[in-house]
Amino acid sequence: MADVRVICAIGRRGQLGLDGRLPWEGNPGREYKADVARFFDLTRGHVLIAGPRTIASFPDWARPERTLVAVRSSDEPEEVIGRFPGRVIFIGGGPPVWSAYARFVMHWDVTKLPYDGEADRYLDPAWLTAG
Ligand SMILES: NC(=O)c1ccc[n+]([C@@H]2O[C@H](COP(=O)([O-])OP(=O)(O)OC[C@H]3O[C@@H](n4cnc5c(N)ncnc54)[C@H](OP(=O)(O)O)[C@@H]3O)[C@@H](O)[C@H]2O)c1
Repeated sequence: MADVRVICAIGRRGQLGLDGRLPWEGNPGREYKADVARFFDLTRGHVLIAGPRTIASFPDWARPERTLVAVRSSDEPEEVIGRFPGRVIFIGGGPPVWSAYARFVMHWDVTKLPYDGEADRYLDPAWLTAG
């Protein structure tokens, strides 16, 4: 079975995104910076499959260090995952991508941050039990 994982960060109520960015982007708090650093650390050298908006939000310096794959709704999840035998694959979101790929994920790494503000994208707990 392919090694398919997720690393994501949420606010106190499951907030994931706002206007195409992280809702807490630019927050200088220690836990926010540590979370971003940890994400780039753990995904380095691996495959990251995500929707076009999430891929577009990646900084240029992070692109050569991982295999970024932008997926569309016309792609077949099984076929996309099958392109990378033997690789560790992270499903990077956003929500429609997690909905479509959740059934393949065997490791969820969710950091809860102390963010309490607005968002337009939220985690759906049903992803964790998608079969
Ligand atoms: N907090 C976190 O850890 C975290 C992580 C990732 C993203 N985010 C946030 O989430 C937001 C971006 O997510 P988003 O959903 O707006 O945009 P997105 O990343 O572009 O993902 C959604 C798009 O993925 C495509 N897609 C690919 N495969 C699909 C499938 N099988 N079924 C349905 N759609 C599929 C669709 O594009 P087409 O319809 O064009 O094919 C869909 O519009 C940003 O705010 C970002 O910061 C947060």
